[in-house]
Order: sequence, then C-alpha cells, then structure tokens
Amino acid sequence: MEVLTIILWFLILLVPAVYLYFQKKYSYWKDRGVPYVEPKIPYGSMQTSMNVRDTFNIFYKYKSDFPFVGVYMITAPVVVATDLDFIKDVLIRDFNYFTDHGVYVNEADDPLSVHLFNLDGQKWRNLRVKLSPTFTSGRMKFMFPTVLEVSDRFNKTLDELLKTQKTHEVKDLLARFTTDVIGTCAFGIECNSLKDPNAEFRKYGRKHIEEPSHGALVNRLMNVFPRLCQMLHLTRTHHDVTKFFMGIVRETVDYREKNSIRRNDFMDLLIQLKNHATIDGDGEENVDSKVIRKLTFEELAAQAFVFFLGGFETSSSTLTFTLYELAKNQNIQDKCRAEVNRVLEKYNGVLTYEAMNEMQYVEQIVLGM
Ligand SMILES: *[C@@H]1O[C@H](CO)[C@@H](O)[C@H](O)[C@H]1NC(C)=O
Repeated sequence: MEVLTIILWFLILLVPAVYLYFQKKYSYWKDRGVPYVEPKIPYGSMQTSMNVRDTFNIFYKYKSDFPFVGVYMITAPVVVATDLDFIKDVLIRDFNYFTDHGVYVNEADDPLSVHLFNLDGQKWRNLRVKLSPTFTSGRMKFMFPTVLEVSDRFNKTLDELLKTQKTHEVKDLLARFTTDVIGTCAFGIECNSLKDPNAEFRKYGRKHIEEPSHGALVNRLMNVFPRLCQMLHLTRTHHDVTKFFMGIVRETVDYREKNSIRRNDFMDLLIQLKNHATIDGDGEENVDSKVIRKLTFEELAAQAFVFFLGGFETSSSTLTFTLYELAKNQNIQDKCRAEVNRVLEKYNGVLTYEAMNEMQYVEQIVLGM
C-alpha cells in the first residue's frame, strides 16, 4: 500500500474511534442517573471562552433536588456541589476523605507548585498539620500594626495619584497595597510596589496571575492529564517567576539564619519547620514522628509562594469588589461610614485590632463579597 492510502485509512478509522472514546467518557453521569451538564467534544462542560465564575454560574443553573450536578472537565467527570448540607459534609464532616485538590503539581520541574493548596492525600495532610499553627487570631493581631503602617503609605500614594491622574485602575492599586502588606507581614521584605508600580514583586506576581504559562487550554489539560504533562515537563509557574521567588526566599532565609533574626512572622515559622520539623511550643513528643519531617528548602519556598499569592491576589480582588459595590450603593456606603466613625470615636480615633473587630457591618460587607 502506498503511504498515502495508509494515512487515509488511519484517518478514516481514527475519527470514529475518537468519537466513540468521548461518547464513552461522556456517559459517566448519565449511566449513574446524576443530573449533568451536557458535554461537548472536546472540552466537556467547560467553555474556553468563559471565566471560572461565569462557568460555575451556568453549572449552578442545573441545581435540582439532587445534592450535586455532574460536569466534565475535558473528559474527567467532576462533581459540582450545589446543596448546603452536602457541601458541609464534604468540607467539614467528611473532610478527611477529601484531601485532594485536583490541581496540577509538578514536583520535579516546578518546585513552587508543591504547596498547601495544590497537594493531594497524605502529602497535603502532613503539610496541613505543620502549617495550621500559622493561622491563629493571635498572629493576625500581631500583624495588625504592620498592616496599618502600609495603609498609611497607601493613603499617601493615593493622595499623590489624585493630584496627577483623573482615572485610576483600582484593582492594580489595591494589589500594590496588598503586595506590600504581605511582603512585610509574612516575609519582612520591603516590596516597594506602592512606591513603584513596576517593582519586581508586583511584576512577577502580576505575571503569575495574569499570564498563564501555557495558555488557558493547556492549563486545563494539566489538571486532567497530570501524568502526561509531568512527562512533558510542563510547569504552571513561569521560569523567571520561579527564579525570582526562589532567589528572594533564599536570600531572606540565609540572612535571618546568619544573623539569628527572629521576627515571629510567617517566614520565621517556615524556617523553624525547616530546621526542627515542628513550631516551638508544640510539644514535639506528641506528634507522630513518622508523619512529621523537616521541610526542605524547596518546600519552604513553595509555602512562602502560595502565602504571597494568597495574600495579595485574594485580598485585592475582595477589596476591589467591595469598593465597587460601595460606590454603586450609596446607602450601604453611608451606613458603613457611620459605623466606622461610631467605633473610632469609642476608641479615641485610633484604629486598633479590637476596634476593627467591632465593625460588624463592615465585616458583613467584606464577607459577602
Ligand atoms: C490620608 O491622607 C489625607 C491627605 O493627605 C489626610 O488628610 C488623611 O488624614 C489621611 N488619612 C488617614 C487615615 O491617615
């Protein structure tokens, strides 16, 4: 046979084979009698043109008496929980069974991907046990004066900008604010992004969030075919982002260790976990020694990275939405302002951690975002 004929036959057989493969994959929810979002070849229930929020909005419209909706990510069947009690079971009662995050991790090529919010199973459990002492209200309180200090700088930056510019990209401005907050609070590093919009921390943070390393489609494929993508050495983190961040963390750790600096911040805790496996005062003898081992430097850097991302991106998005809604709803804004003034008066005009906690209405607004 000629080569051309072979290729032709190959194609003739390939098309129906691919079709049958998808048909079989896409019968998963139907076979189980679960309400599902009709999938399309090849993306399943996802639409590449749509952001995550709009996509889930569509899924949610399929909500019924059934506790969840079945969808397909490419070919993988995925449960979208729609019932409050069911969600509670997953997140609280049975959370021990739901250790996997279903997110692509590439330990060999992408050290920064190996963090708390990506890991699965036992690896996640081990890390979670180690890091939970970090997230206590005592620590939040401890960081509060630093947040205030950066807020003051934010106020000054805003004041300058108002003199020179008519319109402002609030999201970016707030991301510069939260980048500086997380830099000082968590790492004791002065990021300077308020002063300089293109400061390195802000630059690489923006790049990681806004420019997917391999485009939206490949990013999705990574979650569905992790083994294949690991074999192809695909990474979610840009190489220059990894290089910059690893370098900064290395410098900070070395400096603190050499000069025996203790700042009682997040970096401090990570350094302790690197050197002693547990955080001071935890009573090492109580902990299963097989589970607990010291963090490697790469693991330390990955936790610092996710803390940095989580610190600037989530809070600046929330602040942006909050300000947007407040701008659109004058009556709520007035009520909000009245509460702030009332509480501040009680505390002689000084914004303390306790004062902030008394601003119940403000808190409800932020939590509602
Ligand atoms: C923010 O800056 C303005 C203008 O410089 C100043 O009047 C105001 O008191 C500042 N606000 C706070 C809370 O520091």
